[in-house]
Amino acid sequence: MDKLVVEGGAPLRGEVRVSGAKNAALPILCASLLTAEPLTLTNLPRLNDVRTMETLLSQMGAKSERIDGSAIVLDAAHIDWPLAPYELVKTMRASILALGPLLARCGEARVSLPGGCAIGLRPVDQHVKGLIAMGAQIDLDHGYINAHSTRLAGAKYVFDVVTVTGTENLMMAATLASGMTILENAAHEPEVVDLALCLNAMGARVTGAGSDRITIEGVERLHAATHAIMPDRIETGTFVAAAAAAGDDVAIIGARPDTLEAVRDKLAEAGADIASDNSTIRVRRAKPLRCANIRTAPYPSFPTDMQAQFMALATIADGTSVITETIFENRMMHVQELRRMGAAIEVEGNTAIVKGVGALTGANVMATDLRASACLVIAGLIADGMTTIDRIYHLDRGYERIEEKLSALGARISRIK
Ligand code: UD1
Repeated sequence: MDKLVVEGGAPLRGEVRVSGAKNAALPILCASLLTAEPLTLTNLPRLNDVRTMETLLSQMGAKSERIDGSAIVLDAAHIDWPLAPYELVKTMRASILALGPLLARCGEARVSLPGGCAIGLRPVDQHVKGLIAMGAQIDLDHGYINAHSTRLAGAKYVFDVVTVTGTENLMMAATLASGMTILENAAHEPEVVDLALCLNAMGARVTGAGSDRITIEGVERLHAATHAIMPDRIETGTFVAAAAAAGDDVAIIGARPDTLEAVRDKLAEAGADIASDNSTIRVRRAKPLRCANIRTAPYPSFPTDMQAQFMALATIADGTSVITETIFENRMMHVQELRRMGAAIEVEGNTAIVKGVGALTGANVMATDLRASACLVIAGLIADGMTTIDRIYHLDRGYERIEEKLSALGARISRIK
């Protein structure tokens, strides 16, 4: 199993380019199931989750052809097997995103329930209830969701909780339904907007994406299209946090600064000097870091996917930061690893009270999930001495060549096999 070794203390300097967004790519890959014509995607990140999704699509009968490293043509002219098996779903929850498109296009789908997940229960009841509201018959057997329908019918569905992939699943299903679908209390995340842009390029009629009310007028069929995946705001935010913690002067290029307002504001409050234009965020650190409180919430508030990275920085800030996680019930697993590096953190329920210490010290630590891994990388960059991070397969699911990108900025980081 690969590990990362980080020697702390090297200041980060220079330019780093952001990759395409994992959380936009995964639903958009599934959107290819909605049409018999080719869908061309550019700016696709080279990530294990993307490869897993390609495997899933190819098992169903879809063909994919890489044009170059970051462009792909997907062709779902024939879907032979509308199934997402447990073996793939267990490694990537986002496989549930195949449910809506398969049902809408084939009239049937069998998708494994994602089951338990390290960061919380993460049920999919909203996906299922929304599809039932659109006329699907759904039953559960042996851990699988079995869904059937004749053509889905447009419906009004009010989400009980704001769910990103739930919104995306129903939005995709509704594109081929008869009549109008109205999704209320929908997720506002920029990745939902990116999916809507792609669907509209394919001939769908989606309006309101990015607000809490999305309207989809169903069409008979979708057609070929080309779409560029938006830049990854969480990868961007991770580099902003790394630069704020260990940087001297870093420019993060090819980004969408408009999708990171809450993150930029909080890191500025913590003492980073942040300047942005349309596609670049420049981070400098002249002053010592200060404590800042965060509370995760759906977009446009502070993202849960940046909570762990922010905590790494708070460990060495002056004063006490209060970090509250409101989206997932078990997303504090990085705390015990940070403590091994000398951090002073108390946890009460879903709140971490982080008392800044003078410095962290390098240690052997274990990555427990994707964003926790990024938190440990940042901690390693600022710690005295060597940090070895085990189980970095989590990191490879969602960060493209992170050690190469950080090395180019001057970090002393390497992968050992
Ligand atoms: C997506 C992101 C993930 C991010 C999360 C929250 C993708 C591929 N993943 O995950 O990186 O951390 O949004 O921003 O885009 N819930 C229910 N019932 C449901 C669905 C969700 O109760 O049917 C709850 C969840 O348990 C959680 C909350 O709603 O507490 C938000 O989850 P959700 O937005 O669905 O997360 P994902 O879409 O899985």
